[in-house]
Parts: sequence; structure tokens; C-alpha cells
Amino acid sequence: MAVDLLLGLQWGDEGKGKIVDVLTSKYDIIARFQGGPNAGHTLVFNGKKHVLHTIPSGIFHDETVNLVGNGVVIDPVIFKKELDKLDEQNVDYKSSLLISRKAHIILPTHRLLDAASEASKGKAKIGSTLKGIGPTYMDKTGRNGIRVGDIELDGWEKKYRALAKKHEAMIAFYNVDVQYDLEELETEFFEAIETLKSLTFIDSEDYLHKAQKSEKSILAEGAQGSLLDIDFGTYPFVTSSNTTAAGACTGLGIAPNKIGEVYGIFKAYTTRVGSGPFPTELFDEVGETMGRVGHEFGATTGRARRCGWLDLVALKYACAVNGVTQLIMMKGDVLSGFNTLKVCTSYNYKGETISHLPYNIESENVTPIYTELKGWKEDLTSMTEASQMPKELNDYIAFLEKELEIPITVVSVGPDRKQTIVRK
Ligand code: IMP
Repeated sequence: MAVDLLLGLQWGDEGKGKIVDVLTSKYDIIARFQGGPNAGHTLVFNGKKHVLHTIPSGIFHDETVNLVGNGVVIDPVIFKKELDKLDEQNVDYKSSLLISRKAHIILPTHRLLDAASEASKGKAKIGSTLKGIGPTYMDKTGRNGIRVGDIELDGWEKKYRALAKKHEAMIAFYNVDVQYDLEELETEFFEAIETLKSLTFIDSEDYLHKAQKSEKSILAEGAQGSLLDIDFGTYPFVTSSNTTAAGACTGLGIAPNKIGEVYGIFKAYTTRVGSGPFPTELFDEVGETMGRVGHEFGATTGRARRCGWLDLVALKYACAVNGVTQLIMMKGDVLSGFNTLKVCTSYNYKGETISHLPYNIESENVTPIYTELKGWKEDLTSMTEASQMPKELNDYIAFLEKELEIPITVVSVGPDRKQTIVRK
């Protein structure tokens, strides 16, 4: 059976966690394929909010297997905290949570290196979540990393020690003020490693190949968004993994011809957290309202997110890179009350009108060109049927579908599982 993908199409925080949770009842296996604790997937049900960082968003469904794939980077300390939260809620994950032996481990010194690297950049900093993601992927591609499978082997601590020592020298080389007590960090780390060891480690690509053969349904859950992709995002202001469809192939061992539906998820407007270009960013009352009504604060770092109008140039690009087959529009409710809504349909790029995403989208080169649409007044948050949606919202959706040439099959009108309208 083909593997379906769910991918963020903007700069992350689109609401992937909620939608994976909503879709999970259709799937036997939910698999994360990249990123790590830089992600914050928020799920709301039964009046309670749950935030997951590394654990797949299907974990609250008893029947579903949740796999952390080889492309993910795991911080055992944060992972343990996530497990503790699940324990508090009596979620039985022991048999349903599987970890790839090929997933890489974030060491305490990776986090310190992240901090040192960012501090050394000054104003040019990436705005990283400082979870050690970049340094861990650097060690992966540099062939120095420690993988989950290593901690099952005798003597892996020797490898750990050599790598941590090298990291300490690198931190010193940055010559910035990063204070730390490695002994303390290591106590916590090795304790968390023991917790990690109590879980089931598998050869996940083999597991998934067998699952596909036996007709199991699989959903690959993306983290971050397409515009943060290491290759296709707004480099260098990106994360360190492939957040796009191809990342699901390498991050799980799925062949490209085994991919089925590609759900692309986007907000009805745009947000970005951290540094980097953002052509439709608003610095006025409208942007401030979006942030306030949409509770636009990072689930991992608590940082305020930058807000702006929907950018169809960037969205079209993301749809093309991912081969999106269905669109899911989030946070439609946040746009209620605006008289006019703007959608960026092309850019003025150095004096020329263009409709593709150019190499450099810094504000000195790019000015967005907008189409204006009529807004709606109605509160959408208690709507559950497409027939209840106001005309102006239907017009907004129809405009986007025409521009993107992909159907919008789901509209989310609030954080709760129940606030989800299926259109087709
Ligand atoms: P890093 O992946 O933590 O190094 O962060 C690199 C960039 O990606 C920064 O701009 C972060 O704010 C952004 N980023 C990383 N993870 C997420 C996420 O889950 N949502 C939104 N932005 C993210």
C-alpha cells in the first residue's frame, strides 16, 4: 500500500499535529521522518492541550503504531520528558512507540554548539530553537554521529567521549560566552539514555517495507515547513533537514514510487518564527491582530511569530516541490472580522513582475503584489459543516483553489479535533 505524506507548506507551525491526530484513525502507522525536538506539534482534545516534539502525533490513539524514523534526530533528555508527560496521562506507549536504530542522537554538546554557533553570528543569527539540530545533522553528514543502534552496543560511551571532547574544543574555538556544566548535563543525558533503551528499537526501513507489503496504511508526518527545507527553503535561514516530500523517502526508506496522497497543510495567512526573509510580513495592526487572535507563539520556544498575508507565490512553489495532491487550510477562523483580505499573487522583483520564487527574496529585492478579496464577519469556530461556511470564505477558498490548481479538502476553524470541516 502507498504511503501518504502530510507536509507543512510554509515556515512551519501550520498545524500538522492537529491534522495528523484527526487523520490517525485512518492509518495503522504514523511515522516521523525528519527534524527533532525543534518541532512542537500541538493537539487539543477533550478540553486539553498536548504538545509533542519528537513523538509522532498518533500517540494518543490506542490502535496506532508510532514510528520515529531514521531521518529524525532524538534528544534523549527531551524525549524522556515527553514520555513522562504521556505517563502522567496514562498513555500506554510501550508497545506502540518504535524507534529506528538509524536515528541520530543529539548530545548535550550538540546543544551547546548550537548556542555557540548562533552567538558567534551576532545579528546574522538563524534564530535557531537551540535544540542542537544543526550540529547533530552536521555530525550525521560528517559521518561522526552516534545513532540509536550504537547505544545497544558495548563501548559506545568511548565514541561518545571522543565526540564530546571534540565538541568542547569547537565550542572554545567559537570564543563566545557559553556557560555550561558538562558533568551535570551528562548525568541527565545518561539517565535519559536508559529510559530510551527501555523502548523498542527496530530496523525501521525493513519494518515499513513489510508493513507496506501487508497492506498497512502509513502516514508520514512532516515537521517544520517547506520554506525551512535545507535545500529548497530560504537558506541559510532554514532548518538542517529536508522537510519536503523527498525527506520522507530518505527519512524512512520509502521508495518515491510508493508515495500516495500528499497532504499539504497551510495557514490561511502566513507566519514565521526566527530570522529570514518574509515578503508578505506585516508590521501594522493587521499583523498584530493575526498574532493575537491566532495565538502565534512558538510551541517549543514561546517566541512571538511574525505574521503576514498569504503568499501564493511561495505556496505554489511548495506545492510543486512536494507534489501536493490535497490541501488543508488551517486557522480560517483567525481571519474573521477583516473587511478586506489580501493574497500575494506575484512579486515585483527588481522592477519586474514575476510569479515564481526567486533565489533571493530579501525585502530590498521583492515587493509583494496583492489581490484583494472581501473578508467575512462570522465567527467560524463552532462550524462543523461546509454548508455553514460564509460566502466570502467560500470565495476565498475558490480563489486559492483556482490559483493553486489543487483542491482544499479540509478547513480547520480552531485548535480542537472537532473544529475541522471536511469539504470533499
Ligand atoms: P533549528 O532547526 O532549531 O536550528 O531552527 C532553524 C530555523 O527553523 C529557525 O528559524 C527556527 O525558528 C525554525 N524552526 C525550526 N523548527 C521549527 C518549527 O517546528 N516550527 C517553526 N519554525 C521552526
